[in-house]
Amino acid sequence: MAFKTVQWLDESGPAVRLLDQTRLPGEEAYIDAADVDTLVSAIRRLAVRGAPALGAVGALGVVVALAQGAREGWDDARLHHEIGRLREARPTAVNLAWAVDRVLPLIAEGPAAVLAEARRVLAEDEAANRQLAKLGADWLVARCPPRPLRLLTHCNTGTLATTAWGTALGVVRELHGRGLVELVHVDETRPLLQGARLTAWELAADGIDHVVQVDSAAPGAILRGLVDAVLIGADRIAANGDTANKVGSVGLALACADAGVPFVVAAPWSTVDLATPDGTAITIEERDAAEVTALAGVPTAPAGTRAFNPAFDVTPARLVDAIVTERGVAEPKRRPDMRLTEPAAPGRTAP
Ligand code: MRU
Repeated sequence: MAFKTVQWLDESGPAVRLLDQTRLPGEEAYIDAADVDTLVSAIRRLAVRGAPALGAVGALGVVVALAQGAREGWDDARLHHEIGRLREARPTAVNLAWAVDRVLPLIAEGPAAVLAEARRVLAEDEAANRQLAKLGADWLVARCPPRPLRLLTHCNTGTLATTAWGTALGVVRELHGRGLVELVHVDETRPLLQGARLTAWELAADGIDHVVQVDSAAPGAILRGLVDAVLIGADRIAANGDTANKVGSVGLALACADAGVPFVVAAPWSTVDLATPDGTAITIEERDAAEVTALAGVPTAPAGTRAFNPAFDVTPARLVDAIVTERGVAEPKRRPDMRLTEPAAPGRTAP
């Protein structure tokens, strides 16, 4: 696709250029963020979103903080406070904190060294996505009927959610390239409609046949035999394979388990958090009630109605057929005692 989700701007002063995803699909508008406040706000209101894209912003954001600190004369304490705000802007996707932590040690060597490492974070993400997409496609081809597949996906896991290509949507793209996609069922993904607004936009651009459906249509479609496999991304994968992803994912996994349909999690290794033993330790972001009680600013519930609005849920590993990363494929449902471990050689079956 022609656009870039996250890019570094050198010419007009150090800044991160973000494609403003709140304005898609209507408008392709960009935000040039040259200070920490603008970055934190863009992350919180989901102008940039998706775990790997948040990692890219976190890494480049440290360079922005260094430049702002130099302009405004911050001392070390202030610099680290501002970087901490960036790191904590959203709590569930581990990639954000992971990428900030990865570039932090380079601060001692100066902004150029931090920028070089941040650029590596971005480049590695694209390479990881392309590799995991191939592995995921191979895994599905070996287990699904030998014909173009009917796939179902949730939220947005494409170029918009990463630095390029995508994770679960990367697998869809890889299968499409092999002539193996009949139709993609796209969950609209309430309340912020990442599926309807963003995934449908990416699939249309690539000419991949798709239908958008309300989230509640998904389990019925799976049980009726309309879906050959479900593919989702991840915000954090615990060491035992429990997977946090967009709210609604666990219902898909339950339906798949009942129907015997493969439920596949696709994510770069940077989304695996070995320090988190299982899903109970994952912080689930709770978002504003207005996202649920109003639609595009128009109230859909009586004034004063409270809402339960978790942005994510955790799918237990026992419901996950495959976790596909660039390092290989783990099969938690088949091996309930499996643990993801570091390191596994690229391309090898993990763990
Ligand atoms: O709230 P969002 O839009 O940031 O949620 C994104 C998701 O849940 C994605 O599925 C996940 O980050 C994987 S993106 C490759």
